[in-house]
Amino acid sequence: MPFFIREEVQDDLLSRGYSRRQMLRTAALFGGGAAAALSLNTEMAFAAADDDAKMVRIGSNECWVGPMAPGLAAANAAFVNANRYSPNSEAEKLVKAISTVENMPVDHIGTYPGSGETLTRTLVAFCSPTKGLVQASPTYDNPTPVAKFLNVPIASVPLTSDYRHDVKAMVAANPNAGLFYIVNPNNPTGTMTPMAEIEWLVNNKPAGAMVLIDEAYIHWTPEYPNNSAAHLVRAGKDVIITRTFSKVFGMAGARVGYVMARPDLVKKVEVYDRGNGPAIPTTACATASITQNALIAARRHEMIQNRAMTVDFLTKRGLKVIGPSYANMIMVDWKTKSAKEMGAMYKAQGVQIAGPRWPVWPTVGRISIGSKADMEAFCNATGKILT
Ligand SMILES: Cc1ncc(COP(=O)(O)O)c(C=O)c1O
Repeated sequence: MPFFIREEVQDDLLSRGYSRRQMLRTAALFGGGAAAALSLNTEMAFAAADDDAKMVRIGSNECWVGPMAPGLAAANAAFVNANRYSPNSEAEKLVKAISTVENMPVDHIGTYPGSGETLTRTLVAFCSPTKGLVQASPTYDNPTPVAKFLNVPIASVPLTSDYRHDVKAMVAANPNAGLFYIVNPNNPTGTMTPMAEIEWLVNNKPAGAMVLIDEAYIHWTPEYPNNSAAHLVRAGKDVIITRTFSKVFGMAGARVGYVMARPDLVKKVEVYDRGNGPAIPTTACATASITQNALIAARRHEMIQNRAMTVDFLTKRGLKVIGPSYANMIMVDWKTKSAKEMGAMYKAQGVQIAGPRWPVWPTVGRISIGSKADMEAFCNATGKILT
């Protein structure tokens, strides 16, 4: 076998319906053998394919500014000692900081170089050719190619008419589901699914299935932390939460994410091992940033103002804005033009937006909320395109 897979992991994979050949594919995901054919982080892949610094970059849900000042200072200080693999217990300090901020025991936390990594690992850990993935449509398009690569059956259940996850239809979609994927707020719509509905899903899903709640955008919502599903993890439910430092913390290129789950689930998500984990300066940056409540609130406030200005502009032009969005993105239904045509027209005006990316909504594009200047440039471009 060209990849090392621990024996207990092999047994687990075989018991869940993986053939020996498919098992090698799971190993290829983490060993890099699949990377050329498969993007394990769709947002990153789209951003990298179009990384022209001269453009107004509001196509990839990135933050318009970089890491927070205390994070940068901590990263610089840590880099000086980067001759050491672990200069001063940076990895443990990050876990402790997450534990304090989230009121979560340290053994309920696993850190990774980005949350896209945790999505892939969770999929391998709980899905298989006999245990399906159930997700919304449209939602974050990261798990789909991984599931296809592993021959995992996929049920994509349309969002409700007001853009919530349709949890009842999701449970009905596959009695043999291994994983229910909930993105809250959802990417690409920015809309929220109420906690009571997520709790219903957790209490009514098939036994043995897991609920993966991707909270990549939760810091943008004014209700955070009260709208997080963290209480379900603390209550020992079959719930795995993923988080990222790529959004409000402005660290998409630095690569840090984490899972919060029961210790047995944290272990299971590791599947093969934890990998190398995030780099030391990045880890130090995350630790110094996660406690910066005032800076988080200031970024949130700025984003909400820029989003309101943009929604107001579009609505006054008679365009349909999907929502309400609680995150740093909005979707617009161009109605008479395809998302592909509109994307090209904005590009010609020096503005990158997202779409076409959601085949079920061919006329809908996604605009990430950037700085005031970014959004003014977007509005100016819209004025030129729509005249
Ligand atoms: C919903 C969602 N989850 C996860 C990710 C992956 O984030 P990262 O791997 O940068 O932590 C993204 C990226 O945009 C996302 O939109």
